[in-house]
Amino acid sequence: MSEKRRRPLAVVTGANTGIGFHVAGQLASRHGYHVILACRSLPRAEAALEAMRQQYGEVSAEIQVLDLASFSSVRSCASSIASRHGSLDLLVCNAGLNAASVPQGSEGQLTEDGVDVVYQTNFLAHLLLVALLLTPLQSAEGRVVSVTSVIHRSVSPVDFELARTIREPYVSLYGLSKLAQILAGLELHRRYGSSSAERVAFHSVNPGGVASDIWREYPAWQRWAFRAMLASSERAANTVVAACVCDEGKLPARPMYWNGYFGASRSSAFEYWSPVPAGSSLVPSRPSDEACDRQLAQQLWDHSMAIFRKAGFDVNAMEEDSSSYDAWRSFGKRALT
Ligand SMILES: NC(=O)c1ccc[n+]([C@@H]2O[C@H](COP(=O)([O-])OP(=O)(O)OC[C@H]3O[C@@H](n4cnc5c(N)ncnc54)[C@H](OP(=O)(O)O)[C@@H]3O)[C@@H](O)[C@H]2O)c1
Repeated sequence: MSEKRRRPLAVVTGANTGIGFHVAGQLASRHGYHVILACRSLPRAEAALEAMRQQYGEVSAEIQVLDLASFSSVRSCASSIASRHGSLDLLVCNAGLNAASVPQGSEGQLTEDGVDVVYQTNFLAHLLLVALLLTPLQSAEGRVVSVTSVIHRSVSPVDFELARTIREPYVSLYGLSKLAQILAGLELHRRYGSSSAERVAFHSVNPGGVASDIWREYPAWQRWAFRAMLASSERAANTVVAACVCDEGKLPARPMYWNGYFGASRSSAFEYWSPVPAGSSLVPSRPSDEACDRQLAQQLWDHSMAIFRKAGFDVNAMEEDSSSYDAWRSFGKRALT
């Protein structure tokens, strides 16, 4: 067995910059993972891998192209990973964008799949990726960690249908996408993480305010202020990595919601920012009431399945036997053939 095969395997989406870059570098250099950098641009990923090796040493890593704004790209990415790796220990659903990065004008709002680009990139395409990689995740009794945000608290009332409409003026679905990540984690755990013998753990991390590339479209003075005030991407990655490797997150753990700043367990204000970043300390708190709402989770599930069905995925098995891992497995297998 090669050196590469003996290492635990992690996939990190959006690993070419920001938090994801350091999550990938730290998993590989400090925790012995072979890391797949799942990125939308091959040249940016290649440059990042070179920079990662300069900063973190001779890391074990490879690149896989993944554009979350395209279900077809998600399918190709998952197919390529599943065909080469029988088991997957960790999937970090990190890639994301905010409203400032959405192209101006109504044409830029929806993806080729007819879904709001922020909602699909941050949440829905990650849910599809989880589904398609479920078999290798199960084989490893793996863990899925979603990088979410305190902004999930700002969504009320919740209307998933907005994700399929063009809005003028554009209303950001960033908060909805971040709420959906947590809701889906809880729902996935309820369906597939709590009783089956072949379980997968599902957790969320809110890194808090981070001076990453996500602010790239903001004015220079704001980016300067964020750099001065917010945690660095490297520091925020410490928290995400702790969520990925901690014993508290091992099966049969219930889904957790950890935070990037100290004080978050006392007040949600500290989920945005506090003077002390948590680094590799794990600071849990309770997500919003909406994020824990069972009925809302069911609505999200139905809405997501409807979109996958419209995009040509056969979701019958999941709907007929939604409490079984076999349903997911069957969904994944059919989608990848
Ligand atoms: N920064 C904060 O204050 C903050 C706060 C709370 C939560 N978060 C969350 O943290 C996560 C990481 O963000 P970050 O702050 O590190 O931002 P970032 O520096 O902008 O990195 C985002 C990554 O996502 C990738 N990405 C964007 N659209 C994609 C697509 N269609 N397909 C594949 N990859 C795509 C980007 O690739 P390109 O380089 O090609 O664009 C980049 O690699 C996000 O989920 C974000 O919502 C951030």
